[in-house]
Amino acid sequence: MAAAPAALELRAVSCVFAARGRKVGADGYLVVDQTSLSVAQGEFVSVVGPTGCGKSTLLNIAAGLLSPSSGGVYVYGQALDGVNRQAGYLFQAEALMPWCSALENVMAGLLFRGATRASAREPALHWLRRVGLGGFAGSYPHELSGGMRKRVALAQMLILEPDILLMDEPFSALDVQTRQLMENELLELWSAKKKAVLFITHDLDEAIALSDRVIVLSAGPATRPIGEFAIDLARPRDVIAIRDDPGFAQLHARIWQIMKDEVLKAHSRQMEGA
Ligand SMILES: Nc1ncnc2c1ncn2[C@@H]1O[C@H](COP(=O)(O)OP(=O)(O)O)[C@@H](O)[C@H]1O
Ligand SMILES: [Mg+2]
Repeated sequence: MAAAPAALELRAVSCVFAARGRKVGADGYLVVDQTSLSVAQGEFVSVVGPTGCGKSTLLNIAAGLLSPSSGGVYVYGQALDGVNRQAGYLFQAEALMPWCSALENVMAGLLFRGATRASAREPALHWLRRVGLGGFAGSYPHELSGGMRKRVALAQMLILEPDILLMDEPFSALDVQTRQLMENELLELWSAKKKAVLFITHDLDEAIALSDRVIVLSAGPATRPIGEFAIDLARPRDVIAIRDDPGFAQLHARIWQIMKDEVLKAHSRQMEGA
């Protein structure tokens, strides 16, 4: 039996940006160097690495928002050309339309795809309930807390039923308690309908608590994966309780061993203004 293709695969992807007043060669600034990684169907993979190493760049490449300078992206075995329509994307920054209610924000993707308002309304209400905002359909973003706005954004992504979820530090701006609640809710939604997830974070605890596999990137420039760890902790998980699991501490120590130097390198390069 042939193995099922990965939901998402990056093959030897490199990304060069035009130099922005940096110390670089004539060819520009190599941000991502020959990176290969894959996410199996239903798998939750996190990519961790120091700030500025190229995590968002990698995710933008996976989303088809940015073309790699070389290498390719494959979605269920098919070469990606243009925007990745099988993927939903959750950004770090707020991306709600402030002039639209929560309901309208969640309906927007369906309307954009040509659905009528009447047919988009029910599924949008359903997804608002799923993320715990059944009573806030008519509220505008400025009337909602940061955590609630993130929930709306989550519903906005999930209503389109993407096979692949691409998440770029989605909870990093939230306070710790809200963030842990959201992480647990994400795990619950994910376990109900296993999607392939590529989750970007600089937070190793978050990566271990959520994932099946954690990939560590080197400090930039020319970032690339330098370690990959299977997270064999039992599921279902509670992201708070799992931190007390002896397996968690062991994994954390093993991964931090290689991540620590990269964080220090990234920090000293930032101090040099490199
Ligand atoms: N469009 C761009 N043009 C030039 N440099 C960029 C561009 N986007 C990102 N960079 C640079 O590429 C590096 C990686 O950025 P990014 O992927 O955002 O890192 P991370 O998400 O890990 O913090 C940074 O040094 C950043 O300044
Ligand atoms: Mg980023």
